[in-house]
Amino acid sequence: MIERLWAKLGKSSQQPEVSVSADNVPEHVAIIMDGNGRWAKHRGLPRMAGHHSGMKAVKRITVEADRLGVKYLTLYAFSTENWKRPKAEVDFLMKLPQQFLEIELDELISNNVQVRMMGHKEDLPSYTLHAVEEAIAKTAGNTGLILNFALNYGSRKEMLEAIKQIAADAADGRIAVEDIDDKVMAGHLLSNGIPDPDLLIRTSGELRLSNFMMWQLAYSELWFTDVYWPEFTETHFRQAIAEYQRRARRYGGL
Ligand code: FPP
Repeated sequence: MIERLWAKLGKSSQQPEVSVSADNVPEHVAIIMDGNGRWAKHRGLPRMAGHHSGMKAVKRITVEADRLGVKYLTLYAFSTENWKRPKAEVDFLMKLPQQFLEIELDELISNNVQVRMMGHKEDLPSYTLHAVEEAIAKTAGNTGLILNFALNYGSRKEMLEAIKQIAADAADGRIAVEDIDDKVMAGHLLSNGIPDPDLLIRTSGELRLSNFMMWQLAYSELWFTDVYWPEFTETHFRQAIAEYQRRARRYGGL
C-alpha cells in the first residue's frame, strides 16, 4: 500500500536492502508480470506506456536473477486469452519481444543467457516468432541463465495437447495406459526439459494463476505483491527470494 502511495506521488519508494542467502536460491522462478495497464492508468498514460515500462522491468529482473544465480526465469508475456484484448494492444504486445531483443540480445549473449520460448507458436505473427527464434538460435550454446518467455501460452491448451498426444500413443500401442505417469505427462508439456518452478511471483495484487503452468506449479511456493510490474525492482525480487528461503517445502510429507 505504501509502495502504491509513493508511486502515485511519483516518488520512488524507500526500499530496504534485502539480503539473499547464496544457499537455497530457487533454481526456477516464474513470474506473472501483471499491472502494466493499471500502472499506466494511475499516471494518466496509455496502457501501451505500461507495457513499454514493463519491458524495462524484464531487463532489470533478468539481470538480477542472473546475478543471484537463478537458473531458469520464466516470464508470462502473453497468454492464450490475451488475444481478446483490443487489436491495437495485441499488436503492441506482439511487437515487444522483437523490440526487447533488438535492444538486449547482444547483452544477453555476452552474459551467457540462453533464450527460450514456451507457448503455442502457430498463432504468433511471423515477425514475433522470427525475432524469438533468432534469439533462441543465437543463444542456444549459452550455459548461463535460461530466460524462458511464455508467449501465447495457456496451461489448459498445453495439457489438452499433451493428453491428446499421449492418448494417440496409447491407441497406437506406443505406450501402455498403466505406464502413463507424471514423467510421461511432463515430457509432453511445453516446459519439457525445464524443472518445475520453485517460486511463482505475481505482481499487482491479483491472487490467481490465470491459466499459467497449472501442472508445473503443483508444489511451487507462491509470492504475491501489490506492486505493479513496471515498478517491480531488484529489491522486490530479492524480497520474494528471501521469503522463499524462509519457507519449509514439504511436498506433502512431514
Ligand atoms: C498483464 O498486465 C501483462 C501483460 C498481458 C503483458 C506483459 C508483458 C510485459 C510485461 C512486457 C513483456 C516484455 C517482453 C520482452 C516480452 P496488464 O497489462 O493486463 O495490466 P492490468 O491488469 O493492470 O491491465
